[in-house]
Amino acid sequence: MAKKKLNVGMVGYGFMARTHSNAHSKVGHFFDLEYQPVLKAVCAPEADKTQAFADKWGYESIETDYRKLVERKDIDLIEICAPNNLHHDIAIAAAEAGKMVLCEKPLARTGAEGEEMCKAVEKAGVPNLVSYNYRRVPAVTLAKKLIDEGRLGKIFHYRAVFLQDWTISADLPQGGQALWRLDAAVAGSGVTGDLLAHCIDTAIWLNGSIKDVTAMTETFIKERMHTETGKKQAVGIDDACAFLAHFQNGSLATFESTRYARGHKALYTFEINGEHASIQWDLHDLHRLNWFDHRDESIVRGWRSIHVTDSDMPYMDKWWVPGLQIGYEHSFVHQIADFLDGLAKGKPASPTFREALETQHVCDAVLKSAKTGKWEDVSV
Ligand SMILES: NC(=O)c1ccc[n+]([C@@H]2O[C@H](COP(=O)([O-])OP(=O)(O)OC[C@H]3O[C@@H](n4cnc5c(N)ncnc54)[C@H](O)[C@@H]3O)[C@@H](O)[C@H]2O)c1
Repeated sequence: MAKKKLNVGMVGYGFMARTHSNAHSKVGHFFDLEYQPVLKAVCAPEADKTQAFADKWGYESIETDYRKLVERKDIDLIEICAPNNLHHDIAIAAAEAGKMVLCEKPLARTGAEGEEMCKAVEKAGVPNLVSYNYRRVPAVTLAKKLIDEGRLGKIFHYRAVFLQDWTISADLPQGGQALWRLDAAVAGSGVTGDLLAHCIDTAIWLNGSIKDVTAMTETFIKERMHTETGKKQAVGIDDACAFLAHFQNGSLATFESTRYARGHKALYTFEINGEHASIQWDLHDLHRLNWFDHRDESIVRGWRSIHVTDSDMPYMDKWWVPGLQIGYEHSFVHQIADFLDGLAKGKPASPTFREALETQHVCDAVLKSAKTGKWEDVSV
């Protein structure tokens, strides 16, 4: 049967636009879906670079203004792979034009912005999704299954870190491609909205809602040259953040993130300790899930490292044969596969804008607590 076409309008040609475009190109080869994405148009202000991206990835056309893109009759889905300060306006414009919206994380710079985005997609009744792609790494999806089956028993502890080391040099400017992350006006916050947002999304997904938090943040380098003004300007982002949290289920959590951990490029790890068992996951070794089960016979009890490649593991029946692992890019293929499957079944893939707003509220509470020095409740 001929597949239904889903015309994609991509905003941005940077890092995430590559992961999303790659996912669209591959998904139909590996998943049996009613819909087939068509790379219709890519949009960014710089026409030459946007055209080069279109040529490389096979987009049919380009736009240089997202307002034109969202108004186009031949576009069904707008994908927001642009810096955080643009998510709000693009998502609302897209929803008002009746387009589906797939937005990169974090949903917005603040909960207030996120709330307006939720209202816009809900009013328009358009399918929507936020790209918290780590949920769709098979080992992380397996962790969710094991927890939901009750295999860990009551959960006591959740521990997450996300460590990088790329902003240690004081010579690194703020603003512009990729470096917009160092500019608070564009990014909203530093490691909290960029890296901890991933950790918080996974944590809520695996272990339920977070009740309250107490946090500390630090900005190690107080001034950096701004690429747009050519002047040294104050740095407003958090370079590092650590916080404690209570989950609604009574378990305790520690979260830590920094871009000043020499030797770590993208060390996202989590560990969950339950009454019967513990699990650990590490992005640097993303196809493995470590598992310890106290119920094992004592003479063989110990941590085991599950190689998540067998065909009964989440998503793995769609790829190669047992023993052959997949990687980072595949989490985006799974994301679009789930989105398209959700469209066909009328059952939205998670996290929707509304679901992802919870992470935004936790980020807001973390940043507020770092200022007040007090425990802060997470808004609901
Ligand atoms: N899911 C993840 O793991 C993950 C990883 C990295 C980034 N992100 C998120 O993805 C988004 C984009 O990040 P990135 O790393 O791709 O950034 P990037 O700097 O590599 O690319 C940003 C793109 O946005 C375009 N852009 C800037 N202004 C624009 C405008 N007015 N209209 C249209 N396009 C515009 C730029 O030309 C550029 O192509 C951010 O929200 C970021 O937080 C998510």
